[in-house]
Amino acid sequence: MEPRIGGRPTAHIIEYLRKPQHPKQQHYPFSCQRSFFYFSSRYALADGIRALGLRRGDTVLLPAYNCGIEIEPFHYFGLRTEFYQIDKELKVSLPDLREKIKGNIAALLVTHYLGFPQDTEQIKAICNDHGVFLIEDCAHALLGSHNGADLGTYGDIAVFSVLKTLPVPNGGVLVVNNNNFRWAHQQLEPSRFSSAFYVADLLRQKTLPRGGLNVALESGAYGAFYQGMNIAKRFIAAARKISNSRGLSLARPDSYDFREDLIPWGTSKASERIIAGTDMSRVKKTRRDNFGKYLAWFLAERPAGITLPFTELPEGVCPLFFPLIFEEEGKREIVHARMKERGITTYPWWDRFHPAVPWDEYPDAVYLKKHLFGLPVHQDLEPAMIERVLTEFADLMQH
Ligand SMILES: Cc1ncc(COP(=O)(O)O)c(C=O)c1O
Repeated sequence: MEPRIGGRPTAHIIEYLRKPQHPKQQHYPFSCQRSFFYFSSRYALADGIRALGLRRGDTVLLPAYNCGIEIEPFHYFGLRTEFYQIDKELKVSLPDLREKIKGNIAALLVTHYLGFPQDTEQIKAICNDHGVFLIEDCAHALLGSHNGADLGTYGDIAVFSVLKTLPVPNGGVLVVNNNNFRWAHQQLEPSRFSSAFYVADLLRQKTLPRGGLNVALESGAYGAFYQGMNIAKRFIAAARKISNSRGLSLARPDSYDFREDLIPWGTSKASERIIAGTDMSRVKKTRRDNFGKYLAWFLAERPAGITLPFTELPEGVCPLFFPLIFEEEGKREIVHARMKERGITTYPWWDRFHPAVPWDEYPDAVYLKKHLFGLPVHQDLEPAMIERVLTEFADLMQH
């Protein structure tokens, strides 16, 4: 069987069920006293808005280059949203930020895109000068640090999306750095069916090496598990018309929905087991090593029509994927489809345009939305797999 290179890390099925040797993860943010756990990071952000005491009618400043889902919690609480510029290197435009923050702004959200830190010290100083809360969006930046400090320790609050970096079926973290904030934090167990379904979906896309019968059997078993869960999902959709039980919810943590009823959901037991049993240093090292291999290749080959938003990997960064920019519009969609045909998952990153953003004012954000593309670096990828991605990519570039 040909190898399959999935877009997300995936654990062995047993690891979702088995108790880990060490019940508590020592790595930040999991070890932090003031970390709270959610179904995903958008719900961590919603509770963080509550923790900060932001109110209906307050104005928050958000980056024009965004996923879109991080805007929803602010709108849910009736906050007004304004935007600031991000340049083509995915950096906050400090001049634009300084200008916009002069308005009556209650909080600023800053995103460490793809794990690469923003100029946090300067941004924090700007917030302090204007009495504005800083919200660090570390959805892409789990395990990352900057100038020796963990990302997530600069803001008044920070949020992390665990499911983007680790092989968990759900998981978001809110870190509240300011001890003065008090709010009622609830934590309900999320739907078990939702967690089991997502595990099946992860396994279906699991990265598998080139192999014989054993790999084919493993792949077949995961396919059958997913099909079984899909059938169960249809029954549950019907059953939900009769019983509105939370245990039967079909909610996915990675959809484009924001649902009020999911704000109090915590992280599942399966995710807790994976978090506790993961060697975070190895995760970070593998992701960095894989990123480094791509970077060396792109800097040596310099393929035409491609620019790199990051030409180095600063110390402390735990990359989400390896980003590149196709100068020609539409090219990334073609490459994504062709790589998929060859068993390789890539990321045409963020093609959705949230209607709250006045896009005409932010051409760089629009450019990024249309041109940015990513190659996988996650911890399941061995060196030979990175070489395969590069061989297939180089082959596509020539045709
Ligand atoms: C920058 C950013 N913030 C927040 C989120 C929300 O994360 P989650 O899917 O864990 O709710 C995303 C999701 O893609 C994101 O990209």
